[in-house]
Parts: sequence; structure tokens; C-alpha cells
Amino acid sequence: MRLFLALMPPPALRRRLAELAERAHDHCGGRRVHDDSLHLTLAFLGERPTAQAEALSRWVEGRDVPEGEWRLNAWGAFRRPGIVWVGGQAPDRALVNLQASLWRDLEQQGVTGRPARFIPHVTLLRQAHRLDLAGLTPPDLAWPYRQVALVRSFTDQHGARYTTLARSPAA
Ligand code: 2AM
Repeated sequence: MRLFLALMPPPALRRRLAELAERAHDHCGGRRVHDDSLHLTLAFLGERPTAQAEALSRWVEGRDVPEGEWRLNAWGAFRRPGIVWVGGQAPDRALVNLQASLWRDLEQQGVTGRPARFIPHVTLLRQAHRLDLAGLTPPDLAWPYRQVALVRSFTDQHGARYTTLARSPAA
């Protein structure tokens, strides 16, 4: 099954992110990420057998994550896939450290595929028609986080859908 590690926004923040997606869509067109699917990817693990997914779930359930708050104050785009995102003006140091420490654990469990660069972002649009974001008022949101989720991705007739398999401890 296809797996990734992510931060999932609390409900009030999810609504704010959905509003940003709507504004970005008015400006850029393309395909909006479904409101239920908005997230921050910390590690994309790719296709994993069921036994490994179970082992990874047990690991996540015992993996303490330092509490943090991510400031989302910039729009961004990845040109080639036409992605429009919201994130920080610079990669957030605490999230970059968290991503690196999660990948160290993953590599010890035989998971490879750590990317050379990590830009924390929440994808809002795919296949956008326009990537000039200068006309959009800058966002300003705070994302307090404490838990990482192990998420399964599958595709149905509406596109990518996600289900959470496991969460790290809440406190
Ligand atoms: P994105 O947030 O930039 O779209 C689930 O597929 C998540 O894993 C997506 O949010 C996606 O990033 C991220 N991801 C990273 N590398 C990926 C890859 N090679 N294939 C699919 N998704 C990837």
C-alpha cells in the first residue's frame, strides 16, 4: 500500500486552508486538493507491503514528536507539476529537523527514498493554469502540531483519498 507520514491540520485550520485553496483557485485555476485531504507531507514512503505497514504503525504509535508551531505566511509553486502551495517564507527549522529525524528512523527500518531537499508545504492546487502568485494577499496562519500521522493513499473516481493508519502519542 502507498504510505506517507504527514501532519494533519486540526479542523479549524483545515477550514482556513480550504479558504486559501478557494482563493488560490480563483486566481490560478487547476484542480483543488479535496478539503479532507489537505496536509503537510513529512515523508513519502511509496508502496509498502502490509507487514511493513503494520510495523511502521507500531513505530509511529511509540514515536514522540516535539511540539511545535508552523507559521504559514507565503504562497509558493512548483512549476513542473503545476502545484500551488502555502507554506513559510523559508523552510521552518523545526520541521526540517523533524523530517530529518523521522527519515533517520525510517532508514533504520529499511525505508529508502529520502529526498535531497525538503520544502515544508501544503499543496492546495494541482495542474494550475497560472503560477504567478504576486496578486494574492499573503496568508498568515499558525499551525500548532504535536502528532505525526501514518497515512495510506489510494485513488478512487474523485482522485487521491487518504486514511490515517496510526498516530504518534498525543502528549
Ligand atoms: P505534495 O504534498 O507535494 O503533493 C501523498 O502522495 C503525498 O506525498 C503528497 O502530498 C505528495 O506531495 C507527497 N509525495 C512526495 N513525493 C511523492 C511521490 N514521488 N509520489 C507521490 N506523492 C509524493
